[in-house]
Amino acid sequence: MRKPFMAGNWKMNLSVEEGVSLALGIKDAVGDYDAVDVAVAPVSVVLPAVAQALKGSRIIVGAQNIHWEQKGAFTGEVSAEILASAGASMVIIGHSERRQFFGETNETVQKKLLAAHRAGLHPIVCVGEQLSERESGRTQAVVRGHVQGAFAAVDRALALKTTVAYEPVWAIGTGVTATPDQAQEVHAFIRTLLADLYDDDLAQTVRIQYGGSVKPDNVKGLMQQPDIDGALVGGASLKVDSFAAIVKFNG
Ligand code: 13P
Repeated sequence: MRKPFMAGNWKMNLSVEEGVSLALGIKDAVGDYDAVDVAVAPVSVVLPAVAQALKGSRIIVGAQNIHWEQKGAFTGEVSAEILASAGASMVIIGHSERRQFFGETNETVQKKLLAAHRAGLHPIVCVGEQLSERESGRTQAVVRGHVQGAFAAVDRALALKTTVAYEPVWAIGTGVTATPDQAQEVHAFIRTLLADLYDDDLAQTVRIQYGGSVKPDNVKGLMQQPDIDGALVGGASLKVDSFAAIVKFNG
């Protein structure tokens, strides 16, 4: 019912040349594989070249962040509209690295989510708790705050065109993946939050990705869970072989 959706978050990696080379490799490996939606998110200055390399393919190209305003005196920032004009059709919003290092808050996430929709970009909104929050039993409270904060001003029609990524911070780049059961528990919880904010139908339609040390050897167990619809992949998305293996988790 929900088509699997695998997205590679390249983070601050790969030059223009390296990005284009990886994109072409991914296109070769999974460009014809239509059982799964596939996206890559390069660095914003690399994005136009990657979008050009993937033109005409099924692979979606997205950015890793946006500013919420359309234009203006915001030195160093990039708007959703400008990224769309450069070839983006998707954007990652509220990644924990932005929350942790760049002052992203539930409020800025909410503004960016609206800005993404304003420009017609498909947003992937990231939510997830830190290790200390999990250990002190606050996982649900943190995830509730992230989800309710992000969606507060988003109407149903736009919420339907949004993907959520559950990324427990302690699993990102650490090699420690959440177990399929741990991830499933939070994914199911996120669906109840969406059902409360909107309705059951919407909660059953929106795709929820898992992110945090997803690799070819653990993706299958995660994808077997009923509420896990895909992955947001960091490290393993930087190599054709590992990313293609994740996309083709079903064989
Ligand atoms: P890793 O797959 O490297 O743990 O990164 C996950 C992530 O942050 C994707 O957005």
